[in-house]
Amino acid sequence: RQPWRGLIEQYREYLPVSEETPVVTLLEGNTPLIPVPAIAKRIGRQVNVFVKYDGLNPTGSFKDRGMTMAISKAKEAGAKAVICASTGNTSAAAAAYAKRGGMKAFVLIPDGYVALGKLAQALLYGAEVLAIEGNFDEALEIVQKIARNYPVTLVNSVNPYRLEGQKTAAFEIVDTLGNVPDWLCIPVGNAGNISAYWMGFCEYHQDQKCDRLPKMLGFQAAGSAPLVKGERVMHPETIATAIRIGNPASWEKAVAVKSASMGNFYAVSDEEILDAYRLLASTEGIFCEPASASSVAGLLKVKDQVPTGATVVCVLTGNGLKDPDTAINHSNPQFKKGIKPNINAVAKAMGF
Ligand code: F0G
Repeated sequence: RQPWRGLIEQYREYLPVSEETPVVTLLEGNTPLIPVPAIAKRIGRQVNVFVKYDGLNPTGSFKDRGMTMAISKAKEAGAKAVICASTGNTSAAAAAYAKRGGMKAFVLIPDGYVALGKLAQALLYGAEVLAIEGNFDEALEIVQKIARNYPVTLVNSVNPYRLEGQKTAAFEIVDTLGNVPDWLCIPVGNAGNISAYWMGFCEYHQDQKCDRLPKMLGFQAAGSAPLVKGERVMHPETIATAIRIGNPASWEKAVAVKSASMGNFYAVSDEEILDAYRLLASTEGIFCEPASASSVAGLLKVKDQVPTGATVVCVLTGNGLKDPDTAINHSNPQFKKGIKPNINAVAKAMGF
């Protein structure tokens, strides 16, 4: 058995790289497609449900797929520094891959709205972290202008190499299932990932690696749902800070995916997100971050539309360890404190 060499080596023929491209990799990709029978059971009839657990990537999110490509291509072009705006995961991935490639990383984050683990990562990887008094949408506008005027390469998903890398998740799903799922449920923030998955499924379909295309269902947090509303949200809000975005950069691409796949966008409330987040952990043993749980929350919300016998894949974009504050504040039950250090006290606290 060949050891895994990262997604660029695995899918080289589908990616815009050449022998000259210096591959910057942390051996990302090859993440598990895990059956989730307790979630499937809630749908109420025979349905196969899997989660694509991309939180197991090297920096804990799907962003590593895009970043191995974006950073390798930046290095190939001779870049010395990269920049991104981020709700946290992009900044962690950009920082890790830039440093591995010997480059400087500048990251703009919305002050106070980045989960603790993500901030810790960007800082420890040694990025220049710039917290702005504004939201992600404002940060993205600024970094696009900075990249036009200064010698830094933009590595947000408007950089086309990002989506090229991220499309490999679709390849992995087809390689594992032997075909496409009937439905793909995915969280949507800046709308890059849904566009990347669709690109991947279409390329594999053209190559006859699958015999049809999936229905693409994108889920946004109710307070940050521009694609559902059909208009920019000026002040996006949600507990799922990763997708706290009001003006997605890949808006047109995502709308095209919806119509081509006969899919749809739906909003899920923070309560629905938290319910799915707890359910995944407490019934399936899978810890994802809140934004990721929106794919499962969404599936449960539209469960009556799932055809009997269908295969559904929900994308879990990020690891639960990214956001320990939300886990601790919204876990159920709370832990018991102040127990005396003896057997009787502990046994009593255990309910014996
Ligand atoms: N899930 C997680 C965990 C994310 O971090 C993001 C985006 C998404 C879903 C949405 O993906 O933007 O391609 O539609 N995070 C970006 C960031 C915005 O800065 O880390 P999308």
